[in-house]
Amino acid sequence: MEVEGLKGKAAELAKSLIPEKLPVHVAVIMDGNGRWAKKRGLPRVKGHERGARTLRKVVELSAKLGIKYLTAFAFSKENWNRPREEIDFLMNLLRNYLKKEVKTLKKNGIRLKIAGDIEELPEDIQNLIRKAEGETSSGQRLELILAVNYGGRAEIVRAAKGMAGEGEFSVDAFRRHLYLPHVPDPDLLIRTSGEQRISNFLLWQMAYTELYFTPVLWPDFSEREYIKALLDYQRRERRFGRI
Ligand code: IPE
Ligand code: IPE
Ligand code: MG
Repeated sequence: MEVEGLKGKAAELAKSLIPEKLPVHVAVIMDGNGRWAKKRGLPRVKGHERGARTLRKVVELSAKLGIKYLTAFAFSKENWNRPREEIDFLMNLLRNYLKKEVKTLKKNGIRLKIAGDIEELPEDIQNLIRKAEGETSSGQRLELILAVNYGGRAEIVRAAKGMAGEGEFSVDAFRRHLYLPHVPDPDLLIRTSGEQRISNFLLWQMAYTELYFTPVLWPDFSEREYIKALLDYQRRERRFGRI
């Protein structure tokens, strides 16, 4: 397919994309920021800064391709175990993203949602989240979900509690108590940086997700790399237990 604004090798590769075969929901574990910085003799946080840039590009391209949901793992429950300075930096990045990105998201028809235990975040960030979600809620092109203070096991426990409160026990009842019940399960998971694990991301939702791992570090993950992942996905045969 032709994608507006794409140039060079990325545009060339994009020609082989078949719109009907694109995933509806892409999930991304944005990993390798620290190693990217270390390789360059820079402090880890510089990697996070560059990583935020990569996210902007991936969001923009997703919207152009007609992908409907993009979930990006931005901060896990386990990430609280990092040094204070790094946590503060990441929270600041989130603050800035919520303040500065809303305009662009609105312009591009992107609605923002957060998945995770928001009430454990600094109060000002909670307010910024409510504001950003509200201001972008009419976006119809793409839903961007940032997983923040997110853990798959915590989400499962939360949903189990909700289901018990309701008194109906089934897969459908469980789904109604996820952070974002309206979002379809991811079709494709991309993890950068060579690690081949799930790290407590979307555990319940990934029952039939296609997994794609690349050694490329997140700050280096380009439009071309993203299209390569989508082409790989297109070649897969999804069976869902059938023959
Ligand atoms: C991913 O990059 C970003 C977050 C987890 C917030 P890392 O910070 O995990 O980078 P590496 O894995 O140490 O290289
Ligand atoms: C997963 O990356 C979390 C995010 C990308 C936000 P980590 O770097 O925290 O995962 P592990 O510790 O390598 O499994
Ligand atoms: Mg990591």
